[in-house]
Amino acid sequence: MKYFPSRKKKEPPIMIREESSEYSPNKCVLRDDENNVWLYHANCIEFMDMLIGKYPNGKFDMIFADPPYFLSNGGITCHNGKMVKVDKGEWDKSSGPKLNHEFNLSWLSRSQKILNPNGTIWVSGTHHVIHSVGYAMQQLGMKILNDITWEKPNPPPNLSCRYFTHATETIIWAAKNEKSKHCFNYEKMREINAGKQMKSVWSFKTPNGDEKTFGKHPTQKPVALLERIIVASTNEDDLIYDPFSGSSTTGVAAINTLRKFVGTELELDFIGLSISRLKRAVATRQTSLNFAISEVM
Ligand SMILES: C[S@@+](CC[C@H](N)C(=O)[O-])C[C@H]1O[C@@H](n2cnc3c(N)ncnc32)[C@H](O)[C@@H]1O
Repeated sequence: MKYFPSRKKKEPPIMIREESSEYSPNKCVLRDDENNVWLYHANCIEFMDMLIGKYPNGKFDMIFADPPYFLSNGGITCHNGKMVKVDKGEWDKSSGPKLNHEFNLSWLSRSQKILNPNGTIWVSGTHHVIHSVGYAMQQLGMKILNDITWEKPNPPPNLSCRYFTHATETIIWAAKNEKSKHCFNYEKMREINAGKQMKSVWSFKTPNGDEKTFGKHPTQKPVALLERIIVASTNEDDLIYDPFSGSSTTGVAAINTLRKFVGTELELDFIGLSISRLKRAVATRQTSLNFAISEVM
């Protein structure tokens, strides 16, 4: 099934004050007003605070957030057939359940404020983080719409043989509040699901070699997963924000589907990777979005 993006409108640039602080330089590292792509080397908390001041009634139609999982704490996993320590980086270390939950509340409350009244947020995570996210959403009065189970058909083996293989992640989809009239492109989802209502269990392989052409992020999401999320809950020209942009998979999927993208990321290495990926997506998006029908449940 192919999807041909048709048109493109310009967005006034989303510019924030570029001002360094103790936590981040708040620097716009990719500004493409023609193609509506803006990437910031910034701490999302500070960035959102600035946006809330500028857009008190909200700004984004959709947010996708893949926050730190808090799982890099000395466990082991299997990588390329070898036993390795789980160490995704400093950003992924746990500060204990209480502080982790405070962090989730702090970025989620800001995300809620910068969503448009009918905007929605998607948050992905493993059990290390997702229960706190769900609880924080309830505390903030968001309306939980679905919890998607993303099933990975190719999970790494469990080397300890004391658990099942970790083969799923959860993605919670929520509206800003109970009053929101959220966007759901029901017909489009049915169309790509061979005419049947789409279930909340989705199967997508982890990113393929082509998605890692410029290098990889330790928790990189598949572009096809983000394309489905975006097409399900937004319309062409809508504005999407990813606070924890990583390698900017959300941006690549937004470009492919003719949506506008704003991202923030703290780590410079991932900023470089993001810029390469975003530039390539802009150069190649004339090719159609491919929904890889075999992966649609
Ligand atoms: C789970 S990864 C996101 C991966 C991304 N979805 C992808 O497909 O590449 C989380 C990212 O958030 C970044 N990060 C952590 N805390 C941040 C903060 N306060 N502001 C902005 N980025 C942050 C980390 O550096 C990391 O790259």
